[in-house]
Formats: sequence, C-alpha cells, structure tokens
Amino acid sequence: MKRPGIARPDPGVFIKANLPISPVHSVPEILLHTAGPASGLWRLAGRGESDPPPYWAYPWAGGVVLGRYLLDRPEMVDGRRVLDLGAGSGLVAIAASKAGARAVTAVDIDANAVAAIGLNAAINSVDIEAVAADVIDGPAPEATDLVVVGDLFYDPSLALRVIAFLRRCRASGIEVLIGDPVRAYLPHRDLRRIATTAVADFGSVTSGDVVQAGIFSLS
Ligand SMILES: C[S@@+](CC[C@H](N)C(=O)[O-])C[C@H]1O[C@@H](n2cnc3c(N)ncnc32)[C@H](O)[C@@H]1O
Repeated sequence: MKRPGIARPDPGVFIKANLPISPVHSVPEILLHTAGPASGLWRLAGRGESDPPPYWAYPWAGGVVLGRYLLDRPEMVDGRRVLDLGAGSGLVAIAASKAGARAVTAVDIDANAVAAIGLNAAINSVDIEAVAADVIDGPAPEATDLVVVGDLFYDPSLALRVIAFLRRCRASGIEVLIGDPVRAYLPHRDLRRIATTAVADFGSVTSGDVVQAGIFSLS
C-alpha cells in the first residue's frame, strides 16, 4: 500500500542517477541501466504489498538467453512486428530491434519498467514503443507477428494466465518464443525446446554460477 506523504522520485531521473549503465553478461552488445547494491531501489519501487517487485531493474536468465538467441539468428525477427511481453528492462525488445525487427512493442505492468525501457532503448539507439499495461487476459494483439517472452513463469497464477494468452496468440497465427531457465511454473511439457545456453541469472553474475536456460516455442 502506498503511504501518504512519501513522495516517489521521478522514475527517469532516479534510474539515470542510481542505476549505472552496464553491458549485459552474455549479451555485451546491449547496455542497460542495472540496479546494484548502492542503487537504493526501494526508494523508487516502494516496499508496500501493492508495489510490484522491481524485477525490471535486472536482466533475467530467460531474457538473456532469448536476447542472445535473437541477435545470433536475426532471421527470426527480420522485418517482423514483435511484442515483448513482461519486458522488464527491455532487454529482449532491444535485441529484437537490433536484430532487424520492423516494429517492437514492449509491454510491462510496471510503470517504472516502462521508464527504464525508454532510457535503455535510447542508450542502445533503438526505437521501441513501451506500454504500461496488463494485456494477458485480453485477446491476442493486433499487428503482431511474433511474441517474445523472457522469464515470465516465476509465479503459478501468472504462469497460467500467460500460457493462456500465448495460446490465444498462436490461435491467431502469431509465433511465440520463450526464454526461460525452466523455472518452477514453466509449462515445459507443452513447449518445444529449440536451443539451450548456459547463462548467469540476475543474482549470480558476480559468482560466476550459470543456469541452463532454454529457448522454447509453442506449437
Ligand atoms: C522476471 S522479469 C523478466 C524481465 C525481462 N523479460 C527479462 O527477462 O529480463 C518479469 C517482468 O514481467 C513483468 N510482469 C509481471 N506480470 C506481468 C503482466 N501481467 N503483464 C506484463 N508484464 C508483467 C514484471 O513487472 C517484470 O518486469
């Protein structure tokens, strides 16, 4: 719950001042504002029950593997209209744009993520439409050829809603690609694994620990 009297900083100003720009491990072509121990992220994100966790402030293993995959296989996105669902920092959206997508939309429920995506797109010299919305209980998006999803299967009820939305996308003829280190709620039996890469997760970049993260398609 938001507490009256505690003013939140402007997201863009806060991110620029407190989240240093760093290359993404395994995807060094992409630079992102990334939170560190000194960022004081709670001052922007809040600590209340209704404040969404600031997952956008880090590149996640699922986004890292999917970003790497798109940059290495530009034919997957070349000339296509791409929607990045649960875009967070915008990592996958930026990779799609750099790889030659015709248009890229990044959707996240968190307005702070949308601010970060705008800044990160500018740093990487790409044009991305960033939208703060929860679209997953609605119909498949229009004017979209490919939906990309990095690391969105970390919560059981969210995972059910996401896979139902992705099935509606497939039924509308939209291709779906998922990057995920097989988190607990990934419905992997319904998916086809098409690639695997060892990458660091957001909490283990400095320790050097890696997870086997996959690229999955939905039939
Ligand atoms: C674990 S992060 C992954 C971010 C990024 N895709 C990556 O791989 O680095 C999940 C993101 O999904 C967003 N999210 C959660 N529920 C969502 C929903 N219903 N619609 C859109 N985004 C959502 C969160 O705000 C968060 O930024």
